[in-house]
Amino acid sequence: MANTHFSQKRQIYNEEDTENNVVNQNVGGAKTNKKPKEERKLGGSLGPALGKSFSPQEDSNLPDIKKVENYVLQSIIGQDDQVKKIITAVYKSMIFNTLKSNILIIGKSGTGKTETIKQIAKILNVPYTIEDATKYTKEGYVGSDPMEVIYNLINNCRYNLAEAEHGIVVIDEIDKKVNSGVNNDVSGVEVLKSLLKIIEGTKITFQLHHNLLYDFETKNITFIFLGAFAGLEKIRDKRLNTNPLGFSADDAEEKEKLKSRYLKKDLIEYGLPEEFIGRIDTIVEMNELSKENLALILKSSRLSIFRRYQAELRKLGITLSYNKELFEKIAEESLNLDTGARELSNTVNYIFENIIYEVLSNPTKYQKCILDLDIVKDNTKYELS
Ligand SMILES: Nc1ncnc2c1ncn2[C@@H]1O[C@H](COP(=O)(O)OP(=O)(O)OP(=O)(O)O)[C@@H](O)[C@H]1O
Ligand SMILES: [Mg+2]
Repeated sequence: MANTHFSQKRQIYNEEDTENNVVNQNVGGAKTNKKPKEERKLGGSLGPALGKSFSPQEDSNLPDIKKVENYVLQSIIGQDDQVKKIITAVYKSMIFNTLKSNILIIGKSGTGKTETIKQIAKILNVPYTIEDATKYTKEGYVGSDPMEVIYNLINNCRYNLAEAEHGIVVIDEIDKKVNSGVNNDVSGVEVLKSLLKIIEGTKITFQLHHNLLYDFETKNITFIFLGAFAGLEKIRDKRLNTNPLGFSADDAEEKEKLKSRYLKKDLIEYGLPEEFIGRIDTIVEMNELSKENLALILKSSRLSIFRRYQAELRKLGITLSYNKELFEKIAEESLNLDTGARELSNTVNYIFENIIYEVLSNPTKYQKCILDLDIVKDNTKYELS
């Protein structure tokens, strides 16, 4: 791990944490990275970062919210309301100094939880880090110290502390940190509790040189927690069927309202600590993706792997020809597994396996490739000419 000039010299302590006021300086591996902006050309030095007070509202670096929404929706399919809700929450904490957002996104694998955030962070050009909750332990002895999420964020924007203060921290697999029938991570709840301080907003004082201190504020960081929460529906269904108000929630609309109104209760029953849930202000439930959604992803998402193959073949002078029904066939085949849009890649990679081999064997020979609908089950069903 590249320890920079800064990380070797600095001494960091959390001024509110008297027991452990010198925090381990191990700046952990960053999963994500971003391109430096002009003003981020700091080369690991903190000088310019200190001089600049970063205020998204004044700097007005943030694009129009509608533009961001449209951009994300070009990639993310079938989650329109969810995308809008997430962007609104992110903007809320970035623009309004006195409002903060801690977001919880619940959704099955391959529904777009991580990808939505990546797209938002990309267009906003804000620093972010994606952390896996399972690697953290309370003390930080066996796993990593929860404070490390902040170091990783700072790392990702080349130590521009002022910018990191308005960044996004994503903590994935938060559902693996609860005590429930399924998971029994005894230390898990403790990890969540130890995150509370930084979620709520705390100052971490960075000692830069002999006398120079920087009070790093976590209160404007947007925290986003992700999890599949398998089995949460059962808790909710049980609640909806034994309605405390004594009336039967047969009415679909009424049921829909109750669904979200008491969701926090359900999450607490699932095993999330109350203090933790109390600090979440936006809960987003991703939709399960239908066959139609998957077909639309293939056809029109900017992330479509099918479109990528098509574009690469076109670069080689080969036009792809297929019946539009092919997208539905691929979607149907991919739906058999419970990994949402993730499975699309496997199916599409399988389809193009022989084609790519043949094309690369004779790079200049072909101009046209016709895909048979049966190629989904048998990847020899194509015609290159
Ligand atoms: N709603 C969607 N629209 C378009 N593409 C999607 C969507 N959801 C997922 N994908 C595709 O599937 C890939 C995996 O999605 P993502 O990483 O967001 O899954 P996730 O919801 O975080 O699941 P997991 O819980 O397994 O991490 C994305 O990179 C994207 O290509
Ligand atoms: Mg994910």
